[in-house]
Amino acid sequence: MVSPGPSHPVPVEGAGGRGRTSVRPVQGPPKLEVRDLWLGYGSRTVLRQVSLSVRENEILGIIGPANGGKTSFLRALNRMNELTPGMWVRGQILLDGEDISRLPNVYSLRRRIGVVFPLPVGLPLSIYDNVALAPRLAGIRSKAKLDEIVERCLVRAALWDEVKDRLHALGSLLSGGQQQRLTIARALSQDPELLLLDEFSIAVDPVTTMRIEDVLKELKREITIVLVTNLVQQARRLADRTAFFLNGEVVEIGETEALFQGKVEDPRTLEYLEGKFG
Ligand SMILES: Nc1ncnc2c1ncn2[C@@H]1O[C@H](COP(=O)(O)OP(=O)(O)OP(=O)(O)O)[C@@H](O)[C@H]1O
Ligand SMILES: [Mg+2]
Repeated sequence: MVSPGPSHPVPVEGAGGRGRTSVRPVQGPPKLEVRDLWLGYGSRTVLRQVSLSVRENEILGIIGPANGGKTSFLRALNRMNELTPGMWVRGQILLDGEDISRLPNVYSLRRRIGVVFPLPVGLPLSIYDNVALAPRLAGIRSKAKLDEIVERCLVRAALWDEVKDRLHALGSLLSGGQQQRLTIARALSQDPELLLLDEFSIAVDPVTTMRIEDVLKELKREITIVLVTNLVQQARRLADRTAFFLNGEVVEIGETEALFQGKVEDPRTLEYLEGKFG
C-alpha cells in the first residue's frame, strides 16, 4: 500500500469521484479509518476513492447492489489481497491510527480483526477444534485455557447450549444457522477488536438471523463491527451508521435512521433504500 501523503485531520467520507464529499463530525478517534482506497483485480478497478471511518463500538452497515465491491472492501481490511492472486490495493487503512500494511504480517492483523464470511466455510474439524484452531496456532497449549476459550466464544455466539454435549462432533454436521454461529465463535476466538461480517444471513433462517442479530447487539458493547448486508432492513435494525456502495464508490455514509427517514444527500441512496433498484 502507498501512503497518499500528509494526513488530513478530518476524515472526508463518501466518494470524492464526482466532486462531492460529505464531511461529518467524528466523535473521538476512529477505530478504523480508510483513506482514498482503490482496489482491483488485474486490470479491473473495483473500488474507487473510498474514504470512510468506523467509530469505536459502532456497527457500520455496508449496503449496495451486487458487484459493488462490498466483499472486496472487507478483504482489503483484512489484507486478504496478499493471498489473492491479481488483487491489488492502494490507499491507506488505519486501525487505531496504525497503518495495517506496516503490521509485521497478516497473522498479527487477524488477531485484531475477526472475519465472518457466508456459508459454506466448513473446515473438516470438530466444533471444539474450529474454535480452538486459531488460539492453538497462536501458541496456546493448555487444555484448561483452550476449554475456557471455546466455551466463552460459543456462549458469546449464542451456540453453547446447543452444542455443549457434542463438542467433538464435526462442525459440518450442524444446521446452517448453527454453522454460521460457529463461524462467529471462531472469529471471536482471538478476542478481536474489530469484527467484519459479510452477509451472514444468506444461509440462515429468520429465527436464527434474529438470534445472531441479538448477538451482534451484545458484542457491540465490547467491539467494533462492520456488517455487509444485502438486507436493507437488517442494516436499519443493527447499524448505527450505514454506507451505500454503488459500482465501486461510496455514494453516501450517514446515520442509519436519518437515511431511512429520507435525509439523504444523494437521491440514489433513497432509491436503493426504497427498493427501486438493486
Ligand atoms: N478474486 C477475484 N478475481 C477477479 N475479480 C473478482 C474477484 N473477486 C471479486 N471480483 C470482482 O470484483 C467485483 C466486486 O465484487 P465483490 O464480491 O467485492 O462485490 P459485492 O459488492 O460483495 O457483491 P455481492 O453483493 O454480489 O456479494 C465483481 O465484479 C467481481 O466479479
Ligand atoms: Mg459480496
